[in-house]
Amino acid sequence: MRLDHPAAPNSPHERPAAGHATAVAHPNIALIKYWGKRDDHLILPASDSLSMTLDVFSTTSHRPAGTRGRGGPGDPQRHPGGRRAVPAGGRLVRERARRAERAVVDTRNTVPTGAGLASSASGFAALAVAATAAYGLRLDATELSRLARRGSGSASRSIFGGFALWHAGRGTGADADLSSYAEPLPVGDLDAALVIAIVDAGPKAVSSRVGMRRTVETSPLYGPWVESSRADLTEMRAALLRGDLEAVGEIAERNALGMHATMLAARPAVRYMAPATLTVLDSILRLRQDGVAAYATMDAGPNVKVLCAGADADRVARTLRSGASRTYIARLGPGACLRAEDGR
Ligand code: DP6
Repeated sequence: MRLDHPAAPNSPHERPAAGHATAVAHPNIALIKYWGKRDDHLILPASDSLSMTLDVFSTTSHRPAGTRGRGGPGDPQRHPGGRRAVPAGGRLVRERARRAERAVVDTRNTVPTGAGLASSASGFAALAVAATAAYGLRLDATELSRLARRGSGSASRSIFGGFALWHAGRGTGADADLSSYAEPLPVGDLDAALVIAIVDAGPKAVSSRVGMRRTVETSPLYGPWVESSRADLTEMRAALLRGDLEAVGEIAERNALGMHATMLAARPAVRYMAPATLTVLDSILRLRQDGVAAYATMDAGPNVKVLCAGADADRVARTLRSGASRTYIARLGPGACLRAEDGR
């Protein structure tokens, strides 16, 4: 199986419509979080966010175009892995391609779905790339990012490999829609790894969509968090450019903890952290006391992702195994891309 036609930043897809297409995308983990929308329909965030795309837990989306499905608001999806992901952005693609026929989408996630490990990010990024190729659309990476965003906000960042910045965009309506996309971020010399500590791989009780809305509507800490997140982003960009892993980790950790604080202040509280999450956070503190630069970030789930130097990743993973049921070591991964025909 070989990769072809990477969705290179701002370069058009050159693959002709082949009737069906398979795309691969990877999850991304935000170091500056997206939490809260200013437009639920267009999926426009309240603030910019910044992420690293991983090289593990890929999602494959296979889309035989022209196959009639059962209808529905988006295109129907089959999930052979047994887990339904999310409604597809198929209608948007069909409108853009001026094609009426529906297609069957076949999505395979290798990430535990619903556990705050960004399966929707890789899922919608893969879907955007596969669907547009299947309908013969040639979109550049910015347009793919905007399209993926309409499925799930964080998917806008998985179009790109490495570090990516998702612009919140300006204003409201169509202008804002055009100006809210992710782009790759230049960084200095940085050997970053992310150790993923699974404490619970089951589905979360409150979806991030619902948790976000409740936080925006009821948390008195939400406005201050958005403000502080803007300042975090400025500092984070500078730290990445310097290749200063410790500063990157410190900023990422405080940004994530701030996000969880604003959720906890929602009414009723949105709490994703479990007792085992705190156990892992304690281990990270101890690692730091022992001189290992390791920093936590958490999303809409109890699992912890630990940023550290590549050279420290094995030690960090070994240490966290006492509190976590599984650990994975991820490094920077590639952007979403079409996959060569694999004979299906
Ligand atoms: C906590 O992108 O899953 O992972 O746009 O509603 O689909 P929707 O939300 P989603 O939210 C991700 C939230 C987060 C932080 C982040 O990835 O930036």
